[in-house]
Amino acid sequence: MNENEKHEQSAVSVIGLGQLGTRLAQAFLGAGHATTVWNRTAAKADALAAQGAVPAAGLAAAVAASPLVVVCLPDYAAVEGLLGPVADRLRGRTLVNLTSGTPQDAVRVAGWAAEHGVGYLDGAAMSGTRLVGRPEALFVFSGSEGAFAAHREELASLGNSVYLGGDPALAPVYDTALFGLVWGALAGFYHSVALVGTAGVDPTVFTAVAREHMSFVTSLMTEHARQIEDGGFPDDDGTVEVHRAAMDHLVHTSGSRGIGTDVPDLFKTLLERASADGHGTSGVASVVATIAKGERNV
Ligand SMILES: NC(=O)c1ccc[n+]([C@@H]2O[C@H](COP(=O)([O-])OP(=O)(O)OC[C@H]3O[C@@H](n4cnc5c(N)ncnc54)[C@H](OP(=O)(O)O)[C@@H]3O)[C@@H](O)[C@H]2O)c1
Repeated sequence: MNENEKHEQSAVSVIGLGQLGTRLAQAFLGAGHATTVWNRTAAKADALAAQGAVPAAGLAAAVAASPLVVVCLPDYAAVEGLLGPVADRLRGRTLVNLTSGTPQDAVRVAGWAAEHGVGYLDGAAMSGTRLVGRPEALFVFSGSEGAFAAHREELASLGNSVYLGGDPALAPVYDTALFGLVWGALAGFYHSVALVGTAGVDPTVFTAVAREHMSFVTSLMTEHARQIEDGGFPDDDGTVEVHRAAMDHLVHTSGSRGIGTDVPDLFKTLLERASADGHGTSGVASVVATIAKGERNV
């Protein structure tokens, strides 16, 4: 393959130039890929054109311009409404859908793509827009393994692009799971900032110490994942009862210092439920059994 053919093979079309789509197009451009762009409101392509992107004359032309077509719209209904009429143009190409949606959405659109001979990858941008194009920006993809292998290099322009497996639902499942993980961490962080604030500690001063503590948290995740897989919960990192008692201190200290107890109350409820389920003397990771059995606390 000569240089021209290589350039054509690695060309990308980006459809939907909102906050995220614009950053995706910039990342492809930054990595040297020929980048065609299209947006419903055409003026949004102007700034990208000044950066080297080629604005397509229409949607069909945008699809036809590249072997890899990346779409990023508010929801799957918009994607289906927009791409339905150009399905024939997509045939033989790879469609990467970085629109947020549900696992059912992903399976439905993957089925539609298969019917029309389109390689399909469902994806999720996990690190907002600011980091897109940097190695620490996490993107997850699932669906056609062949499509991911064929476009690995282009997708690596976006950041840390991880292929999860053939089930298209995996990307939205990871998307929501990781969102919950981030929120769990942030909720704990916001609460701790409010608590140390009652002692006159500035958020940035506290955060300098807290950041150093996070490697301990990630080491617990690694160890506890192993325990959950093995189904054995040693008490090395404290039992459910030990953590429940510590959580009582957090609830009490927070309340007595006049701040809300919403966050530790949530943790306390989970630990109490795990204890009631008979996990009191088990290692704390056994709370996953209480969560996994599917009853909700309302
Ligand atoms: N922004 C983030 O930080 C972020 C992070 C992770 C994931 N996401 C996900 O990425 C997706 C896009 O988010 P965004 O923040 O980029 O959205 P956004 O800034 O609101 O942009 C939405 C884009 O979709 C276009 N659009 C809307 N409805 C359309 C339709 N029916 N037909 C054709 N084009 C249509 C809009 O075109 P017009 O310009 O013509 O209105 C606009 O370019 C969402 O699913 C979001 O959840 C976003």
